[in-house]
Amino acid sequence: MTAWEWLQKAKEEKWALGAFNVGSIETFKAIAQAASKKRSPVIIEVSPGETSWLGMKNVVDLAHNFSLMYEIPILVNLDHAESFVDCQQAIDLGFDLIHFDGSNLPYEENLQLAQKITELAHQKGLVVEVEMDHIVGSSEVHSGSAQEEMKGSKFTDPGKAREFIELTGADVLAAFFGNVHGVFEEGGENLHLAVLESLAGILPKTFFSLHGGSGIPDEQVKDAIARGVIKVNVNTEIRQAFRHKLEEVLKNNPSEYAIYKLEGPVVAEVQKVVEHKIEVFGSVNKI
Ligand code: 13P
Repeated sequence: MTAWEWLQKAKEEKWALGAFNVGSIETFKAIAQAASKKRSPVIIEVSPGETSWLGMKNVVDLAHNFSLMYEIPILVNLDHAESFVDCQQAIDLGFDLIHFDGSNLPYEENLQLAQKITELAHQKGLVVEVEMDHIVGSSEVHSGSAQEEMKGSKFTDPGKAREFIELTGADVLAAFFGNVHGVFEEGGENLHLAVLESLAGILPKTFFSLHGGSGIPDEQVKDAIARGVIKVNVNTEIRQAFRHKLEEVLKNNPSEYAIYKLEGPVVAEVQKVVEHKIEVFGSVNKI
């Protein structure tokens, strides 16, 4: 099945695909094992930092290998790519979904690049995601609250979104409606579902993604899926699980040098996080 077909199936059946960021082979393995155990299709994704660390070709090849090894569909997404060249390279190398993030560019420039990238990706039957109103935050643990992070930002405007989608022909909209990237020590992450409802009403054929999937209460994520979200991006909670477990294992095993033995519990911890997300997203047994 193609990425578009998976998204369409999720939309019709009202569940969402998890799009999990990979920063290392260990997180890759954890996500693949979780998806295999839950019999769930899964998207792995790389943001610009992760892309340059792993290399695009490695990401595609690892996804292919893990997919064969665990007998699960693994789709590959380029997450928050900001340049035409990066999108072009990912299209050539066999990514399944391309998220072009021109939200920091002037509107016209974002529109023109999004049009060009969508045209190129569609020639290969790939899915394109676009972003207009910048989704704030970053995939880390922030002191302070999500409310503070959101100050001065604006949610996605339905009228502008319709124009942007009609003019680009893109498939997925990375909408901003309170879904800040990262985890906040003082909490305050709240989805404004009325904004999502207006967007879904005005763009009935468009797919909606939910960025900033870490730290949002499960019930709110389920409500967003019920209102049309078909892809939920998760990074920070994976990074937290990885780091905390690694610190604990290193502290408790001062004389262990076999890296794979140290990494085992870390992979298991990340896998737990991914399994839980897969349950919340309703993608269990969808293979
Ligand atoms: P979180 O780090 O909040 O999970 O967001 C990840 C994301 O949206 C990647 O695009």
